[in-house]
Amino acid sequence: MGKYRKNTVAASRVSMSELVMPNDTNPLGNLMGGKLMQWMDICAAISAQRHCNRNVVTVAVDSVEFVNVIALGEVVVIEGEITRAYRTSMEVALCVWAEDLRTGSKRLCTTSYYSYVAVDSKGKPVPVPPVIPETKSEKQRYEEAQQRRDQRLKHSQKIRDMARKFEVQGDEDIDE
Ligand SMILES: CC(C)(COP(=O)(O)OP(=O)(O)OC[C@H]1O[C@@H](n2cnc3c(N)ncnc32)[C@H](O)[C@@H]1OP(=O)(O)O)[C@@H](O)C(=O)NCCC(=O)NCCS
Repeated sequence: MGKYRKNTVAASRVSMSELVMPNDTNPLGNLMGGKLMQWMDICAAISAQRHCNRNVVTVAVDSVEFVNVIALGEVVVIEGEITRAYRTSMEVALCVWAEDLRTGSKRLCTTSYYSYVAVDSKGKPVPVPPVIPETKSEKQRYEEAQQRRDQRLKHSQKIRDMARKFEVQGDEDIDE
């Protein structure tokens, strides 16, 4: 942390390892998807907080596809780093690996992007510093973040419109 330039992607980097225990698995003895998404959320939130030094809340989770099962006794390695920040929001890229400690082999299990908003003690959004991408791939991901954000905000608008519609319907039901 201290050895990296402030506000760079590298300064936000997090690597987290979790051992899959019986309580984390489904009846087939494989890690449950929801448990993995919770660990991903923790890893990404640490990365976002490392960048902005504020409390953050999760505002959006991009699609997560589980391409490989992770078995009881394997280690889940989750790597997270910030890609870009806007006024109060941040996007974090996640990469998840399953590690078999008996063979030392590692398989990629999923990747995703989680988004966070920095908030004050009342939960009100507060500004965050911009991200400084340094390498070629960091700069590419930074540029591509704009398109992902546009998609998310479009989707968010749809959900908010739908929620408003349900609220109106709910009120009408109560009046009857
Ligand atoms: C996230 C939250 C603080 C945003 O508050 P808000 O009053 O809607 O604030 P704004 O409309 O100003 O949005 C704040 C930022 O979030 C961004 N945002 C909003 N919806 C988004 C989405 N679906 N995806 C990505 N960013 C989103 C906005 O673009 C804005 O970013 P910017 O300041 O960088 O431009 C508020 O909606 C909240 O508290 N949500 C619940 C969070 C939570 O509890 N998470 C845990 C899971 S239940």
